[in-house]
Amino acid sequence: MGKKFFIAGTDTEIGKTTIACGLLEAGNQRGWRTLALKPVAAGAEPSEDGPRNDDAVALMQSASVKLSYEQVNPVLFEPPIAPHIAAQQVGKRLTVSQLAGYCRGSLMTPSDLALVEGAGGWRVPLSGRETLAGLAVELQLLVILVVGMKLGCLNHALLTAEAIRRDGLQLAGWVANTVDSNMSCFEENVETLRQLLPAPCLGVVPSLSDCSPDKVAAHLQIDLL
Ligand SMILES: Nc1ncnc2c1ncn2[C@@H]1O[C@H](COP(=O)(O)OP(=O)(O)OP(=O)(O)O)[C@@H](O)[C@H]1O
Ligand SMILES: [Mg+2]
Repeated sequence: MGKKFFIAGTDTEIGKTTIACGLLEAGNQRGWRTLALKPVAAGAEPSEDGPRNDDAVALMQSASVKLSYEQVNPVLFEPPIAPHIAAQQVGKRLTVSQLAGYCRGSLMTPSDLALVEGAGGWRVPLSGRETLAGLAVELQLLVILVVGMKLGCLNHALLTAEAIRRDGLQLAGWVANTVDSNMSCFEENVETLRQLLPAPCLGVVPSLSDCSPDKVAAHLQIDLL
C-alpha cells in the first residue's frame, strides 16, 4: 500500500483542494492509483443525487481510484460555516473516532497515494473537545502543508508546523501556493519558509489563470514525498 497524507492548510481558501488535485494528477501521470477523501465538508450545492460539496467533487474527479460520494465525503453540512457550529445547528455531534471509522473504511481501498483533505486550518474544532487534527493523529497520517502565500503566512506556516509536531505527526512536505499575486518580497518569503520549515518544499505554484490539475501538477515534485 502507498503513502497516506493529510492535506493541511495555513487557513481556509488558500488552495488545499487545488494543490491536492495537482498532487493527485502528478500521481496519475506516474501511473499511480490515487485516492482522495474530504471527510467533513461545510457548504453544499444541490445536484440530481442530492447535496454535493465542491471540494469532494473536485477530488473525486482527480482521483483515479473511484469511490462513491459517501465514501469520499461521509459528513456534509449545507451551510458554509465552521463544521462544529454547522453540526450543532442540526443537532449532530462530530467525533474523531466516527470520522476515523469512515476514513479507515475508504482508505482500505488499495492505492499508491491517498490524500485526506482537512477543513480550514490545523486546529479547526470538531466539537468543544476535539479538533480535526485529531483525525490526522488517529489515522497516523503524514502531513502536507499548503501555505497560502500572502502577508502573514510565515506566522501561520510556522505555528502550523509547530502544532503538527506537537501532535506527534510528521510534516512530509509543504507547497507554496500563490494566492496573492501582488505579495511583496515573494521570493524572500519562500526562502524563509525553506529555511524554517522542517520538510522539503514540493513546489512553488504561481498564481494561475487556469487552476486545472495538470497545470498545477506541472509545478509539483511528488518524488520528494
Ligand atoms: N495558484 C493559484 N492560482 C490562482 N487561483 C488559485 C490558486 N490556488 C487556489 N486558487 C483559487 O483559490 C480559491 C481557493 O482554493 P481552494 O478551494 O483550493 O482552497 P481550500 O484551501 O481548499 O479552501 P477550503 O478551506 O474551502 O477547503 C479557488 O477559487 C481556487 O481556484
Ligand atoms: Mg478545499
